[in-house]
Amino acid sequence: MVQSGHFGLGVSTMQRSISSLTRNADALAAIWSGGERTDLPYLWLRDNCGCSECRVVQTTEKRFHIYRVPRDLKPGKVSVEHAGSEDEALSIAWPDGHRTRYRSSEIHGLLSLSHIDLRYWDGRFQPTRFDYRRFLASDRAAAELIEEFLRTGVCVLVDAPTEPDSSEQLATRLGPIREVLFERIHNVKVDPKGYNIAHTDLAVAPHNDFTSYTWLPNVQALHMLVNECEGGESIVLDGFGLLEELRSEHPDKFEVLCAVPVPFRIFSDEYECYAVNPMVELDRDGNVRLLRFNTAQMQAVPLSEPRLVEFYAAYHELSRRVNSPGAQVTFRLEGGQILLCAGHRVLHGRKALRSTGRRHLQDAYFEHDNVRNHPRLLRRTGRIRGRQNPSKP
Ligand SMILES: [Fe+2]
Ligand SMILES: [Zn+2]
Repeated sequence: MVQSGHFGLGVSTMQRSISSLTRNADALAAIWSGGERTDLPYLWLRDNCGCSECRVVQTTEKRFHIYRVPRDLKPGKVSVEHAGSEDEALSIAWPDGHRTRYRSSEIHGLLSLSHIDLRYWDGRFQPTRFDYRRFLASDRAAAELIEEFLRTGVCVLVDAPTEPDSSEQLATRLGPIREVLFERIHNVKVDPKGYNIAHTDLAVAPHNDFTSYTWLPNVQALHMLVNECEGGESIVLDGFGLLEELRSEHPDKFEVLCAVPVPFRIFSDEYECYAVNPMVELDRDGNVRLLRFNTAQMQAVPLSEPRLVEFYAAYHELSRRVNSPGAQVTFRLEGGQILLCAGHRVLHGRKALRSTGRRHLQDAYFEHDNVRNHPRLLRRTGRIRGRQNPSKP
């Protein structure tokens, strides 16, 4: 199943021409050569002017402020100009003498935001493996990994270092480490003084980390330094895919999970981390943008919650699905391998440890926005080839 998520501005560079323009009360109605209609509000046309008076020339940032023109601004003369080999331009003269020009391809590129196609998966999937050194050394390999990561929310780096804290090196590709309480880079090994279930030899059911933050870390690198332990196989599952199934089969249960606030908490003698939020969050188009699922750290939903019984029916169904083997991908993460998970989407866990062999995992967190923007940077600066967003310099 494929679903789209929003991602930056449009990248269409298709040559489209405007075949007619009509003035309406608040907007120009443009008819494209293919017959489609686009309304171009006058204030939008004035606001997005790209001229050197309206922009900081050095940075292309906007200098124009919308309050400087009347709210009922209307253009004076409007014309479509044809200039040599360039595509045609829409030229607008404003009542104060200012002039704005847009190439029609420029307007076409701003019709909508471009989308990333998310690829949902189930227990039959295996995360794609990428070579660690190539990921750091080659811009093309980095873009390839990140694009796969944006689609599926998961991948594995192999032949990575085994020195503690070497996941700091990932920052050149993934952006700065997102620090949270406890440790900058978290150590996961059996520790009788540990504050987390992962510090025991127990199985850790699929969860995402730090649901006790309202903005939980949304990229997680699980870096295995050494794994000489029996058991402890890694588990991942696609939270978004699972929620879309739940939504289509039980829309009422899905809706309750979006509505009822749930407290999550992780704490130690030194730290306290607590936040209350619904398990599922949607964007304004109704796409799932965030799943919070962490049974170990979930606290009691207050008895005053009016939808408590309904919530439990929904939570039971979600818990059953998360813990169903059909949804889970299981593999062994060896020393020198890094599992990258989109923390808002993919749940991770592990099976119980069955021996006392050495096992040391380190967790580092990053920001999804930084990861997503890295290929855009590589394209914009010509380090990899690809279409440029025409609306951006
Ligand atoms: Fe975890
Ligand atoms: Zn201007």
